[in-house]
Amino acid sequence: MPPLIQLHQVKKVYTLGEKRIEVLKGIDLEVEKGEFLAIMGVSGSGKSTLLNIIGLMDRPTTGEYILMGERIDNLDDDRLSEFRNAYIGFVFQEFYLIEYLTAIENILLPILYSHRHISHPQKRGLQLLEKVGLADCAKKKPSQLSGGQQQRVAIARALINEPEIILADEPTGQLDTKTALEIMDIFHQLHAEGKTIIMVTHDPEMASKAGRVVRIKDGLIV
Ligand SMILES: Nc1ncnc2c1ncn2[C@@H]1O[C@H](COP(=O)(O)OP(=O)(O)OP(=O)(O)O)[C@@H](O)[C@H]1O
Ligand SMILES: [Mg+2]
Repeated sequence: MPPLIQLHQVKKVYTLGEKRIEVLKGIDLEVEKGEFLAIMGVSGSGKSTLLNIIGLMDRPTTGEYILMGERIDNLDDDRLSEFRNAYIGFVFQEFYLIEYLTAIENILLPILYSHRHISHPQKRGLQLLEKVGLADCAKKKPSQLSGGQQQRVAIARALINEPEIILADEPTGQLDTKTALEIMDIFHQLHAEGKTIIMVTHDPEMASKAGRVVRIKDGLIV
């Protein structure tokens, strides 16, 4: 079996007018199925850029991305979206819940963008709420939930299409330590169930919960 994720000499260059900013300068990274990986690095080092490339929200400028043995960096946008919807669940620092939808409606939203058939979506959504410890919050709006509870809803939303890979960009960045550790427990549980998790963080305490830590500095993994 090839590694689940393989990046070879991935570079990312942004151009702002005349200016060229080389953010990723040749990233080589392999992630095995079932790993729990933390990516660390100072602000501006390119962590989110890398995670967005891994999550197929963005493309390398040059270099190769091989996902499950298939080269995907040169696929067209539609195929890329199909891969993303099928295999990737994203969790963000800012939760990005839709304010006028209830928790359960937020969780079910990605189904609309997926080609996957999910039988009894409502039931599945409620099961996921229960899994993240929010069984009684289905009808609540995000404004009626604490930050930690909102992040739990966001994690349930990331799980609705049953992705193989969970990507989390500073998922505990807006939470106090106790709540952050509760969120880490959920990631641990998902990892124990076989999910592959890649988490960006600048908090060494959170990174220490992962199985492996890589650091980005000056556009390279050190
Ligand atoms: N769309 C863009 N256009 C131009 N420059 C960008 C763009 N996105 C990111 N950058 C630049 O790339 C660099 C890396 O950004 P990135 O968001 O990946 O860093 P980060 O490590 O996630 O930082 P933080 O810890 O603050 O979230 C920064 O200098 C940023 O200004
Ligand atoms: Mg970032």
